Amino acid sequence: MRAYVVNEWLHPSKVTLVHDAPEPVPGPEDVIIDVYSAALNFFDILQSQGKYQVKPPFPFTLGAEFAGKIASNSPIPKGCPFKAGDRVFGSAQGSFADKVAAKWKAIMPLPDSLTFDQGAGLYITWPTSYEALLGRAELKPGETVLVNAAAGGVGIAAVQLAKALGAKVIAAAGSQSKLDICKQYGGADFTVNYTSPEWQKQVLQITGGKGVDVVYDPIGLVKDSLKCIAFKGRVLVIGFAAGSIENLPLNLVLLKNISILGLHWGLYTRMEPSRIPVVWKELLELFASGRAKPVIYSKVYSLEDAMAGLGALERRETWGKAIVHVRDEDRKAAAKL
Ligand SMILES: NC(=O)c1ccc[n+]([C@@H]2O[C@H](COP(=O)([O-])OP(=O)(O)OC[C@H]3O[C@@H](n4cnc5c(N)ncnc54)[C@H](OP(=O)(O)O)[C@@H]3O)[C@@H](O)[C@H]2O)c1
Repeated sequence: MRAYVVNEWLHPSKVTLVHDAPEPVPGPEDVIIDVYSAALNFFDILQSQGKYQVKPPFPFTLGAEFAGKIASNSPIPKGCPFKAGDRVFGSAQGSFADKVAAKWKAIMPLPDSLTFDQGAGLYITWPTSYEALLGRAELKPGETVLVNAAAGGVGIAAVQLAKALGAKVIAAAGSQSKLDICKQYGGADFTVNYTSPEWQKQVLQITGGKGVDVVYDPIGLVKDSLKCIAFKGRVLVIGFAAGSIENLPLNLVLLKNISILGLHWGLYTRMEPSRIPVVWKELLELFASGRAKPVIYSKVYSLEDAMAGLGALERRETWGKAIVHVRDEDRKAAAKL
């Protein structure tokens, strides 16, 4: 099978597609998935260079998010509700390949209304934004949210979800074209370009001088965002896409009576597994009703081009979820989606 096999720490631009890689060997809790689509993540770039906290032993296959079908030769572990041919999406190491072995508890049924391309980037991104806004910041209808890196994977999901919850959204990004994406695909009420030195003043103007109730930050722009947060505002720390972990003077937290809230969705599997189906039930209802819709970058990559896709992600050229199309959908219905 085809797979991006990593044998030494290399930048993804130097990782090549192997055409005769061995098929994955399932563990006792695993199913084998025929991968139809995979999603690109920034941490794939770090992982192939040995700069990510998850360092699988060599050789390993790159890629972490996928959508596909349970393979016809897959084992079905005890308790696993899936059968061969079921459409699923989920997360497992080795998704940039024709087949991947995944823990059956780390996959979900893919709704018929979603294509594999749409499903491949859901598993980590959407519950992260949902749980951050709902579970952690307890966002209320009518409140104002500033979403940083709002055209990115988690950002555009946060914009859509905050809108669906009845909040007012100020989307912040680094270029006019990305701000246009936030309006077009996210329904953002207002946009600001944070490369402008005046951006916090613009946010204050939009909020009538009050500042935003919630800041959603996946890049490491918390300190700057505190210049335009409201009294008793809440800040969601989601990630550090800009590359360094911020240090925050705590006097700023005290002076504005604000709360800093972290969200690491991956930890719920260990610490609060009961919350996961609750979040997914609500997310799938939002997708089914059309109030939320996965956003896919305009260029969908082939498996051969997957590393070029990671290059585009690294250069901040992509928006929404960048997807690798591994196999064609074989359902007539897919053509109508
Ligand atoms: N806490 C969790 O559970 C969780 C879950 C998923 C993801 N994350 C984290 O959230 C962050 C964003 O993930 P994502 O999937 O949304 O990524 P993404 O789609 O690549 O978007 C990241 C955005 O960050 C902005 N950015 C600013 N400075 C950057 C830089 N130096 N390099 C790259 N991008 C930069 C870019 O937007 P502009 O060009 O508009 O500035 C870029 O589009 C990552 O750090 C990821 O690890 C956390």
